[in-house]
Amino acid sequence: MAEELHIPHSADRTARYAALLPQVEALTAAETDPVANMGNVAAVLREAFGFFWVGFYRVAGEELVLGPFQGPLACTRIRRGKGVCGTAWAERRSQLVPDVDAFPGHIACSSASKSELVVPIIDSAGDVRAVLDIDSDRLNDFSESDQTWLERWMQTLGERLY
Ligand code: SME
Repeated sequence: MAEELHIPHSADRTARYAALLPQVEALTAAETDPVANMGNVAAVLREAFGFFWVGFYRVAGEELVLGPFQGPLACTRIRRGKGVCGTAWAERRSQLVPDVDAFPGHIACSSASKSELVVPIIDSAGDVRAVLDIDSDRLNDFSESDQTWLERWMQTLGERLY
């Protein structure tokens, strides 16, 4: 497989999510290792959208542990139910946070992060195996469209990974 993306840079986010989804499906279908796939998906999201921080935390026992990511250094471990990521895991649903300072218990890995979207990755048995975390340095940067599209992406990834 050619490691080359076709990104419609001038298109809006929705069109970019739509154009990239089949490419992500092809990319991840060609590889069985979850860390390799998470690494490439983080790279695609960073390259196509320029997000401030994008990456994965993987479930390991009672904690989330930092996985592949793009962006500044991040916290390595988050307990279940803690922060935005731990809440997405415990509640098994996405967390769309327009203002991180207004989210009780938000974990500030970087003071530059202003808004955040976390989407759980759920396996075929219904268990959360990881979460996708995207941070923006702008307030209110994520919409329900971002959430819907990234849930679609993570459904694909979940099916591939586990
Ligand atoms: N803000 C997250 C922690 C992870 S970093 O943003 C990369 C949280 O509250 O779970």
